[in-house]
Amino acid sequence: MPGLIEVKNASRVYTMGTRTLYALRDVSLQIERGEFVAVVGPSGSGKSTLLNLVGGIDKPTRGEVWVDGTRIDAMDENALAKFRRNHIGIVFQFFQLLPTLTALENVTLPMELRGDAGKLRRPRAEQMLARVGLGARMTQLPGELSGGEQQRVAIARALVNDPPILLADEPTGNLDSANAEGIITILRELADAGKTILLITHEANLARAAHRTILMRDGEIVGQPFPIVAAKH
Ligand SMILES: Nc1ncnc2c1ncn2[C@@H]1O[C@H](COP(=O)(O)OP(=O)(O)OP(=O)(O)O)[C@@H](O)[C@H]1O
Ligand SMILES: [Mg+2]
Repeated sequence: MPGLIEVKNASRVYTMGTRTLYALRDVSLQIERGEFVAVVGPSGSGKSTLLNLVGGIDKPTRGEVWVDGTRIDAMDENALAKFRRNHIGIVFQFFQLLPTLTALENVTLPMELRGDAGKLRRPRAEQMLARVGLGARMTQLPGELSGGEQQRVAIARALVNDPPILLADEPTGNLDSANAEGIITILRELADAGKTILLITHEANLARAAHRTILMRDGEIVGQPFPIVAAKH
């Protein structure tokens, strides 16, 4: 059976004047449904580039990206936006919440964009916020929440449309260690509940929460530094 995520011989090349930079060089990766995969590696090694290809935010110069049986690198922007809404949730280091909307409104937004019926939205948003431990903070603005709380709102927003895949680019990079642990615990619970997760992190101790770790260097996958731990199911 093909993986839920398949990157096939993907390169992402930037040309600057006469210089050519391989942000990714002939990378192939397969991630099965329900896997929790961490990507580690030095700054500039291509981690975000890889995640952005999988999320359809960026396209490979060469190669293919398949998600849930669909080749996404060849899709136009409209089709891609629609596909992403149903299949992929993304969280970033700096949360990227809309500052003038409450936590509840931020989490409701993806359902509005998808065109879900109004009366379905609020209970689902409330349920997601409760699941990440923010049941009592729903009417707060992002600026009235701590960093860890804001990241939990961002996770709730990423998952409210129930996509099978969650992509997280350094989601703990801006948090202290206690809040970072809290976020990783949530990711681990989501993985145990069947979500497929691709996590980028600088911190080896956080990567250990994953089922599998991929090490990148100079645009290539160079190994799996930690032993593969059997997925808990
Ligand atoms: N828009 C761009 N134009 C030119 N080069 C780019 C661009 N985006 C990324 N790169 C280069 O591609 C390489 C990989 O970048 P990428 O952001 O994937 O690294 P990363 O592993 O996520 O690093 P970090 O840990 O610092 O976030 C880097 O050398 C970077 O400078
Ligand atoms: Mg990065």
